[in-house]
Amino acid sequence: MAETADVVETVKQGYAFEGAAIELGALLAGDEPKPDAAVRIPLSMVNRHGLVAGATGTGKTKTLQLMAEQLSAAGVSVFAADIKGDLSGISQPGQESEKLLARTRTIGQEWTATGFPTEFYALGGQGAGVPIRATITSVGPVLLSKVLGLNDVQESSLGLIFHYADKAGLTLLDLKDLRAVIQHLTSEEGKGDLKELGGLSAATAGVILRALIGFADQGAEAFFGEPEFDTADLMQQRDGKGVISLLELPNLQDRPALFSTFLMWLLADLFHDLPEIGDSDKPKLVFFFDEAHLLFNDASKAFLDSIAQTVRLIRSKGVGVFFVTQSPTDVPDDVLAQLGSRVQHQLRAHTPNDAKALKATVNTYPESAYPDLGEVITSLGIGEAVITVMNERGAPTPVAWTRLRAPESLMAPSDPAAMQASVDASPRRSKYAESIDRESAREKLAARLEEGARKQAEEDAATEAAKEKPATKKAPTRRTEKKDDGGIISDVVGSSAFKDFMRTAAREIARGMFKTGRR
Ligand SMILES: Nc1ncnc2c1ncn2[C@@H]1O[C@H](COP(=O)(O)OP(=O)(O)O)[C@@H](O)[C@H]1O
Ligand SMILES: [Mg+2]
Repeated sequence: MAETADVVETVKQGYAFEGAAIELGALLAGDEPKPDAAVRIPLSMVNRHGLVAGATGTGKTKTLQLMAEQLSAAGVSVFAADIKGDLSGISQPGQESEKLLARTRTIGQEWTATGFPTEFYALGGQGAGVPIRATITSVGPVLLSKVLGLNDVQESSLGLIFHYADKAGLTLLDLKDLRAVIQHLTSEEGKGDLKELGGLSAATAGVILRALIGFADQGAEAFFGEPEFDTADLMQQRDGKGVISLLELPNLQDRPALFSTFLMWLLADLFHDLPEIGDSDKPKLVFFFDEAHLLFNDASKAFLDSIAQTVRLIRSKGVGVFFVTQSPTDVPDDVLAQLGSRVQHQLRAHTPNDAKALKATVNTYPESAYPDLGEVITSLGIGEAVITVMNERGAPTPVAWTRLRAPESLMAPSDPAAMQASVDASPRRSKYAESIDRESAREKLAARLEEGARKQAEEDAATEAAKEKPATKKAPTRRTEKKDDGGIISDVVGSSAFKDFMRTAAREIARGMFKTGRR
């Protein structure tokens, strides 16, 4: 390794930015922390995205936490997926201890226990937070196809189904609506419509229906519907601090498609709504995707392309995205290439696979002063990382072995009672807690069936009456075959179908990246 004094000087200069910065920690050189060689990310470069990687238990989530704290303090809103619930402590001041202060002192951090304004959300009916929903129309056929893993033919078929629903004034709000429309098109009554539509086979419709059932098992039923979450709610401030929105995601590994759908919908929606701001001194919103491998694993090529495209474009809207995962090899190359800041915690090299991942990781780093970067990465302590970021001119900073700062908020899950109290007090709760089931495709289709049945009954009555008058001609006996197809359609006849109190919104099909339709 180069002379310690040289390394210290290189890092000092390399990380001396003009504008505000997020303080990550201090350089470690020859096992000594160097508090005056601070390692930081320029606030103006946070929208150039980043990666926090490392084996389990090496400090990734804490890094996310300390970054989120400083962003909040700088007035930047934060959104983070809180997979294991261990980020919820960010809402409360941390716990002081001798051990903690010993750590913070050596790296020049003036540690003060601080809690940050936090809003808790939940997805798919699980968790204590305020429920987040989006409508089927807003998610749109393209994104939906991608998360359902549909092939091209099936995707264009789903597009046709949306098109049909749009033209027929059948509003698609929840999964029940979409299923009702597909079932209608493949039913006796819908035959004509299906034919007119062209290009949609009953077999493909069946495949899509089955995919939707699998999706519903992940909690998608509770996710789709109204009131739809207004993504502008993520951009809140409280007392000059950016609000940290935490999305609880219990049992995420069992429902990755729901997570992907929601996150991509969110990004697409923000992209659609936010103005271009170009370069600015700080981002508007920063996303942290903890356990990001769940977003990429088993995802189709088309879906991965969409992520890469979204990440590329959203930075000019002032949105930064940080992926948090075990190995950089979890992240597709297209995405990895766009991540300006890299915080690499310890990687292990036990298995040949580990060794391969380590080698790949080292190869993604710029030239460094460390003769064997792989050796450094495997020998990092907990809460230490190898870091390089993008400087204010967009060039990579010197690779620095860093001891990270400690979060100032609680490094453990929040007390459930405190969290519940915060949810109960939130104005978002009254806005989103109750789902609304206004008249949409399912009710309309049910009403049509009802209307058909009523006509039929009238005809029957006329036939009966005719029978009693022997002299008249035989009444028409034409009957539409009407068999009860059970389930969806029959169970809503007589429900909200008649309450025609809502207009069907004319859909503005504002086609964004995912061709998502907006309210
Ligand atoms: N920056 C840090 N300051 C103080 N302690 C830390 C820091 N990073 C990690 N730790 C300690 O290591 C533990 C594991 O960190 P965590 O971030 O949960 O790991 P990961 O997310 O990589 O599994 C934490 O509970 C904490 O005790
Ligand atoms: Mg973690």
